[in-house]
Amino acid sequence: MALTPESASTTPLHNPSNFSAALGLPYLGDYPRTYTHEGGFPAGFVWGSGTAAYQIEGAWNEGGRGPSIWDDFSGAGGPAHEAMVKVGAIAGGGGNHSGAVACDHYHRYREDVQLMASLGLRHYRFSLSWPRILPNGTLAGGVNEEGAAFYDALIDALIAAKIEPFVTLYHWDLPSALQTAASPGWLSAGTVRHFEDFARLCFERWGGKVRRWVTFNEPWTFTAPGNPYADVRTGPYLAGHNVLLAHAAAVRAFRETAAASGGAIGITNNIDWREPLTAAPEDVAAAERAREWWLAWFCDPIWRGDYPPSMRASLGERLPTFTPSELESLQGLNHYGSSFVVAQPNGKHYGKHYGEGNGESYWRDYEALALHSEEMKEEAAASAWLYSVPWGLRKLLSWVKRRYGNPPLYVTENGWSTPGNDSASSAQVADGSRVRFLANYTSELRRAIYEDGVDVRGYYAWSLLDNFEWEMGYSERFGLVYTDYATQRRHPKASARWL
Ligand code: NOJ
Repeated sequence: MALTPESASTTPLHNPSNFSAALGLPYLGDYPRTYTHEGGFPAGFVWGSGTAAYQIEGAWNEGGRGPSIWDDFSGAGGPAHEAMVKVGAIAGGGGNHSGAVACDHYHRYREDVQLMASLGLRHYRFSLSWPRILPNGTLAGGVNEEGAAFYDALIDALIAAKIEPFVTLYHWDLPSALQTAASPGWLSAGTVRHFEDFARLCFERWGGKVRRWVTFNEPWTFTAPGNPYADVRTGPYLAGHNVLLAHAAAVRAFRETAAASGGAIGITNNIDWREPLTAAPEDVAAAERAREWWLAWFCDPIWRGDYPPSMRASLGERLPTFTPSELESLQGLNHYGSSFVVAQPNGKHYGKHYGEGNGESYWRDYEALALHSEEMKEEAAASAWLYSVPWGLRKLLSWVKRRYGNPPLYVTENGWSTPGNDSASSAQVADGSRVRFLANYTSELRRAIYEDGVDVRGYYAWSLLDNFEWEMGYSERFGLVYTDYATQRRHPKASARWL
């Protein structure tokens, strides 16, 4: 197995007895290369697809919507940000991409619901735009009735089409008014209170119609890697802590809201599976540490009452204390790729923003380096970070089952990207690589359910439509449906029929 860098330690992993047996995970160091596509899923298993508000809605300054931090970052509105011209330019997309128009879903939601119905979609996960509902982020600043009415209409249209709505409250589009020097986003306790108000408002308004909710999408992604904190020693841990407190507050609000009774609430976390590259104890420990610092950081406090012991031991007082509370909630998992891991004491492979040159930062603290094998790289998506590793999903599900006592799980995202500059030709919509990815991953999902006994209840493919892929702009396409941005025509791809 050729890996970069070559300096990785070389004790071969392909010796089952070495360590995997002790962890009780499938594949014992021997990874499948082919997958079978036979057999069904349990009765009632949920199949769906998803989107997020900023990635599809557009209409950034219409209908009373306030600006979000993503308008600021990508330059659609708000103050110019030094990074904005880089959005979409990173992969040669020309730059200056933003969610100002995106898929124009705000104006085309009726057609999009019809499209979903025509594809036979029965479950749809989407997010509410906080600044569309509360333009300056707070209740005191007033509810934007027109924005709320948009979601009334969308939810009603879905229900009329017999499509079950699954709502995410926070998919990264924080109101700009809550990201200021005085109120620094998730570093601020005020944001926790305002999120609770926003959540309660949503439960009261839509709790009678929406039965499945998620508070946060991928807390790790918007607290750990993406933020140039003034103090990299404590920033990620404080932001992460506030997100957990906000999740807890929203779960309590949900329980107290009569309209929501009978529904279910949870959180969506994410992780790329981390597999030790070798059987050397330090690499085995590094892989487990990477899982703990990525996924268990946000799951342990909810399902085990405190942060992972490895984080407590290493971070000391830099990690806030958590008062355990009853937070019974569903686990959603977003999962895409996997990589191998080697121990890297005092790691320094991340840029200045993330603490290079500083003795302590999230990326140094966790002391693990991730690498892709040549075999993994054989199936590469358009996104630089994404390779197809179906067995990683099965291992991840098994790990979550063991660590948290087999809670009900939903795979809330799993998907594949193709290049953004393709046209809507038949070659483009014949997305064989995506169909293969989805088929192979769901094959492993099926084995996790039937062979490993993992309680997975549903699977949402990402994404329904090609859309605004955050800092990559429109240079990557994750959709089951092709979006022609010039005409806003939708073209279902082969994968849309497959699902
Ligand atoms: C996870 C995020 O939740 C989603 O918004 C994004 O488009 C996909 N990953 C693909 O990067």
